[in-house]
Amino acid sequence: MSADLGFIHRWVPGVAGSSLPTLLLLHGTGGNESDLLSLGPMLLSGASVLSPRGNVSENGAPRFFRRLAEGVFDIEDLIARTHELAEFVGAAAAHYGFDAGNVIAVGYSNGANIASSMMLLRPGTLAGGILLRPMVPLEPDSPPDLSGTPVYLGAGQMDPIVPTDNVTRLAELLEGYGATVTLTWQPAGHNLTREDVQSAREWIEGVTRVV
Ligand code: MLT
Repeated sequence: MSADLGFIHRWVPGVAGSSLPTLLLLHGTGGNESDLLSLGPMLLSGASVLSPRGNVSENGAPRFFRRLAEGVFDIEDLIARTHELAEFVGAAAAHYGFDAGNVIAVGYSNGANIASSMMLLRPGTLAGGILLRPMVPLEPDSPPDLSGTPVYLGAGQMDPIVPTDNVTRLAELLEGYGATVTLTWQPAGHNLTREDVQSAREWIEGVTRVV
């Protein structure tokens, strides 16, 4: 574990010399930098993994940005934290020597929300994303160019935290800015299932064949 570069984080190098993307793992509320480490190789074996811990504490529970209530975000903080995380990704690329132009986020819940915020506010930071149980983080003031950016949305049909029309709105928002969105619905709630992992793995295998 290293506290350098502005975020406590884990870095797990992948197969040397491979052209696989680096996976940026972003945990949910109350998680940490170790939570999703096993998910990386399950999704894309051999890929390097960068896994930061959210810098915000909600009564001791790490998050990537502040919220005012469940599903109600502190937009000013979200914007600032989004830029902070984008800067971290760039600094980590220089530090560890991975390709900053080939980073795919894998975010769950709060982590998915900061990942899509990064796409909306800092296009170019992410080459793509797997967003699991995401919701609309914010509506950007100026339109990002997300042309051809592949995005996988893994939603739960019975998610008590994210209303289905909010996920549909996120898909429309990203598509409107040019992203290539794959929206999948699992017969599940907010928790991830084996089927989420299987479906996301098939998606990333397809995407990395052409990236
Ligand atoms: C968020 O706050 O990002 C979402 O409500 C999901 C969560 O972390 O509970």
